[in-house]
Amino acid sequence: MGQQRLDFLRESFRNLRSTGSVAPSSRFLCRAIAEKIDPLRAKVVVELGPGDGVITHFILKRLQPDALLLIFEINEAFVKKLHVAFQHDKRVVIIYDSAENMGRYFDEMGIKQVDYFISGIPFIMLPEVLAERITSACLHWLAVGGRFVQFHYFPLMLHFYKRIFGNMDVDVVPLNIPPALVVCCEKR
Ligand SMILES: C[S@@+](CC[C@H](N)C(=O)[O-])C[C@H]1O[C@@H](n2cnc3c(N)ncnc32)[C@H](O)[C@@H]1O
Repeated sequence: MGQQRLDFLRESFRNLRSTGSVAPSSRFLCRAIAEKIDPLRAKVVVELGPGDGVITHFILKRLQPDALLLIFEINEAFVKKLHVAFQHDKRVVIIYDSAENMGRYFDEMGIKQVDYFISGIPFIMLPEVLAERITSACLHWLAVGGRFVQFHYFPLMLHFYKRIFGNMDVDVVPLNIPPALVVCCEKR
């Protein structure tokens, strides 16, 4: 097992409730998520719960040089790794805080709307009121036509996203441990 996977496993066991998985997303899952981004409309992209940044690399491949990628992560060990991994990419801003506080940072940075939210937060492990607060904030900040993209391992929360966003597409990605679902909702 590689060092990267061992580090992820250690952080997962220390913080199982907030991490919600024991392995980083496979490249198949990362690609399926990043493909939801249209590079031409992605000016402001926000990633929630990037872990050690495995999906972040795939997101950045889809972004133009003048795009902005804001990252919210609450695990200090992951935040340190993210700083090392992305220190030379001027598009990336790493925020060591919970996604529920996103509005404060958007106001400070003069961000009026977000084109894509990409989330790996394990909402199923969170109190429903917190999950609702974060996803409702995503809907509030999304531009019309913008997308909220989330992955899950079980279909238990699909009704939740349908209720918040009013629409939802689901793709299955079998080549992941465990197999995953990619949920994509659009602000209409
Ligand atoms: C399942 S891991 C996803 C890691 C990575 N995106 C991947 O696909 O392998 C979930 C991540 O969400 C983070 N997280 C949990 N609650 C959060 C919150 N309220 N705000 C920001 N990040 C959060 C955890 O610390 C963890 O790194």
